[in-house]
Amino acid sequence: MERKKISKKIVVGNWKMNPLTLKEAEKLLTQIVKQDIFSSKVEVVVCPPVLYFNNLKKITKKISLGAQDAFYEEKGAYTGEVSVEMLANMGVKYVILGHSERRAAGETNQTINKKIKATLSSGLTPILCVGEKERDENHEYLNLIKIQVEECLSGISKNSVSKIIIAYEPVWAIGKGAAREATSEEYREMSVFIRKILSDKFGAKMLEGMRTIYGGSVHPENAESFLKEGGADGFLVGRDSLDPKKFGEIINISAKSI
Ligand code: PGA
Repeated sequence: MERKKISKKIVVGNWKMNPLTLKEAEKLLTQIVKQDIFSSKVEVVVCPPVLYFNNLKKITKKISLGAQDAFYEEKGAYTGEVSVEMLANMGVKYVILGHSERRAAGETNQTINKKIKATLSSGLTPILCVGEKERDENHEYLNLIKIQVEECLSGISKNSVSKIIIAYEPVWAIGKGAAREATSEEYREMSVFIRKILSDKFGAKMLEGMRTIYGGSVHPENAESFLKEGGADGFLVGRDSLDPKKFGEIINISAKSI
């Protein structure tokens, strides 16, 4: 399956539940802006905790803001939730959905599916995370990824599916406690597999502009191999997005790969 070259990469920083104060959040974004990262070849997205959005969006227009989750109902009696519509009204452009840390807290493919639909109908871009907890010799993990992709995208139209960014994030490669780093070959195989599932379901044409990205212990040292050998269209970065210098390097390596 030969792919048309995507003309723009995307690098998404997932700050998770960091930093602790608004002041630190403003400082972090200001330092990221100073890294000389802006080019027409990479879209940079930062996903901070929701309560910092209003202040952070004043710092720069060149970095898009994303949310780490969103609820599918528009408004009403849903204690603790933030709706996609509310995020859209604040100028948020992207929503990470189905992150493994949310799945670990009980989120199902069915809930993620509803959230994707709400995100698309509000005109925001969903970043759907899929990934297996572990790999087994019988390749059962491939079935799990297939189920995640199919159930999360169930009922979504052909036209909408190409707007979704899919992030392959093997859970075993995420965070400080990662068992090991994934290899660029592992990413390539999985992105081909995911695209095959999608082309069987939605037709190959719809996939031409669709981006698949990699996440899980992305660092300046391994970024190039995921882009070049792995063919990644960009990254979902956790820890290194809290380090302006490293995040800047990952962005610039992505720009150079085009
Ligand atoms: P990490 O996190 O880069 O710290 O491994 C990635 C993620 O959870 O999206």
